Amino acid sequence: MRIPFIAGNWKMFKNRAEAEAFALEFKDLYQGTDIRAAICAPFTDLDTLVKLFEGTGIGVGAQNVHFEEEGAFTGEVSVRMLEDIGVDYCIVGHSERRQYFAETNETVNLKLKKLLASSIRPIMCCGESLEQRDSGVLFDFVKTQLEEGLAGISADDVKRVVIAYEPIWAIGTGRTATPEQAEEMCAFIRKTLIEMYDEETADEIIIQYGGSVKPANASEIMNQDEIDGALVGGASLKAADFMQIIDF
Ligand code: PGA
Repeated sequence: MRIPFIAGNWKMFKNRAEAEAFALEFKDLYQGTDIRAAICAPFTDLDTLVKLFEGTGIGVGAQNVHFEEEGAFTGEVSVRMLEDIGVDYCIVGHSERRQYFAETNETVNLKLKKLLASSIRPIMCCGESLEQRDSGVLFDFVKTQLEEGLAGISADDVKRVVIAYEPIWAIGTGRTATPEQAEEMCAFIRKTLIEMYDEETADEIIIQYGGSVKPANASEIMNQDEIDGALVGGASLKAADFMQIIDF
């Protein structure tokens, strides 16, 4: 039985005062909810959120991490540093990082392995571009992202990985995948996980959909069999909107 999991991805939005205001409003709204929720915030907001969400059950996530233990990597943050301040999740391989910051399946794989050796759960993003969808290579493309991204990761460890299917053409565009398109790919992802691991393992893995999820479309997406949650960008910036999605 997979417990639905909705994560917000704030991207490069909200300073400390704004994060604080969100947290105070959101923790009141969230009280008594049994759906799992987390906010993935800029590094500068993480400590604030961890402290304000303490004891509420709301998780806190980073949006990136480096795969080395420590060293001369100017501008980077390590898994240990995130763990040290109490971060619960970390997004890996978001399409914006693949597009603008040279993230590859290989670096995704290194980051996943480092995170899986810690207490932090990775949220691994995958998803095709519009050209890939239109030319029919979408399934092959996502399969390669999974095979290369998860290479060498054991069945026990992979159960801690949340997979977020985010078609690039649906991110920040207002153009959501139809529930059928989202379900079709999430079912394909689970089938691929069965091939890579086994049925019992694949059955436990949380698969989220992401891309223009908002209060108005959350329930039709979340009611699909193979979709266990959502990764929400723009609509996670307002506590009331994000709560409405969690209450799908
Ligand atoms: P969006 O972003 O909900 O604003 O489309 C989703 C994401 O990039 O994770």
